[in-house]
Amino acid sequence: MARQFEGGRLVIASHNPGKVAEIRELLAPLGADAVSAGELGLPEPDETGRTFIENAELKALASARGANLPALADDSGLAVHGLGGDPGIYSARWAGPGRDFGLAMKKVEEALGENPDRTAHFACALALAWPDGHAETVEGAVHGTLVFPPRGERGFGYDPIFVPDGQGETFGEADPDWKHSVSHRADAFRKLTARCFGNMP
Ligand code: IMP
Repeated sequence: MARQFEGGRLVIASHNPGKVAEIRELLAPLGADAVSAGELGLPEPDETGRTFIENAELKALASARGANLPALADDSGLAVHGLGGDPGIYSARWAGPGRDFGLAMKKVEEALGENPDRTAHFACALALAWPDGHAETVEGAVHGTLVFPPRGERGFGYDPIFVPDGQGETFGEADPDWKHSVSHRADAFRKLTARCFGNMP
């Protein structure tokens, strides 16, 4: 049996305001009293893991120990199958210090070249950690195909080149509420809720 979140305060182990807002929304129905790592002045650890799970776990553990409270972290990215899973855990870094995702999407297009395999998936790892070092982790995904040039102004990151399976629009064109219901993050959240929030209302 996985360890359960017993209620009370929960740290969102992120300094990214967009991510904090999205996770806060997902946590709202679970009755957790969420506070972000940024609000608590906790330092941001280096993402030295080799997988999404390792990075989510090290971020959650750092916040859990720093705040002496349970903490939840997310690590996500785009895995392009024709590129052996790149940019993967380096998805944010491919955009450079200026966080230029136009540039990052161009890099993906150039790296693929004439490769006919345009399949990819977004992955999201979630780790819920406690101050004693225990952690529960889950991973969610959404599969699709890449299109160039990028399409749509909505979403963020690599959304404008990603068409989820069975759809015609990119995540950059689609209704954001719909995206949030089918995304890798929603998939991971459903798994984490079933695993660790069984006691919550
Ligand atoms: P992290 O903050 O280290 O988890 O980096 C996540 C990066 O993966 C983001 O900066 C985006 O580039 C990419 N990414 C993750 N989720 C999405 C998504 O839903 N849409 C588009 N890009 C995403």
